[in-house]
Amino acid sequence: MSPRFFQCYVENAAEVVLELARGLLARDACIAPKFFYDLLGSRLFAAITALPEYYPPRVEAEIFSIYRDEITHALGTQGTLIDLGAGNCEKVARLFPALQPAQYVAVDISVEFLRDALAHLSRQYPDTDMLGVGADFSTRLDLPAEVADKRRTFFYLGSSIGNFSGADAAMLLGRLRQNMKTGDGLLIGMDLVKASATLVAAYDDALGVTAAFNRNVLLHVNRILGSDFKLEDWRHVALFNTQAARIEMHLEAVRDVRIAWPGGSRLFAAHERIHTENAYKYTPESARTLLQQAGLAVRQLWTDPMRYFALLYATPEA
Ligand code: AVI
Repeated sequence: MSPRFFQCYVENAAEVVLELARGLLARDACIAPKFFYDLLGSRLFAAITALPEYYPPRVEAEIFSIYRDEITHALGTQGTLIDLGAGNCEKVARLFPALQPAQYVAVDISVEFLRDALAHLSRQYPDTDMLGVGADFSTRLDLPAEVADKRRTFFYLGSSIGNFSGADAAMLLGRLRQNMKTGDGLLIGMDLVKASATLVAAYDDALGVTAAFNRNVLLHVNRILGSDFKLEDWRHVALFNTQAARIEMHLEAVRDVRIAWPGGSRLFAAHERIHTENAYKYTPESARTLLQQAGLAVRQLWTDPMRYFALLYATPEA
């Protein structure tokens, strides 16, 4: 079967420009993390996942391999797998031999990210119906009618939920819950609180790949907004905010610098920062509470031997 593609999300260019300008003019300036992912940013993120300091992908894969049988038992076989933020589809594809899905639905912001991976996967698994869906599930989740509506497992891996604040994360999961019926489930990866040095190193690696990923956002913003950020004026900062249990990434001005764009400008004093990302870290208890707030009951929680990362399986509360 050839994969089928549906682009359900269309970006509103004027809104995007407004959002960026608003963020730069805010008292605490910010750029949303979604702007990291232009072509170069996506490649830099792929490089981050190969860094020795950035443990989440490795540890999540370790949990999958230790608990493959238990996970298969919890999820069941021959169902529909809906992969949120699928990217290269690699993580969920590793479970195909065990889960033998009848249908695989890869969701990402643009179907263009999914074409090659799905073409490749469908050659390997010709009996699985494969759909590529372009959707911004952080704001809404409308799945095409072609997606089977029984025995669905949603996958939200890699601790991407950590990039949302508590309220936004609960809202996103609540929307997911609304798309779920009895018999459906959610498999979600969540990064756990650990020694601050380990966390900071994961977001400030020795090679400087994460610094490049963070600073690249300025080049992307220049292209969208027509602004005049210069890379040499900004340095990467990653810190662990213990109280909020989150890694924060910022870009810090190394000197006074005025940034201008059509219709606006702002002076950044030396050491002033632009907040670019939060990555919340959970405890098993706070992870359960977040899911509960969204109407999801945790049935299983698996962690690695170091308790660095957790994989949770949750189903709709009765
Ligand atoms: C995509 N997301 C889960 C990554 C994270 O760990 O928060 C993004 C990232 N930012 C810097 N390194 C990785």
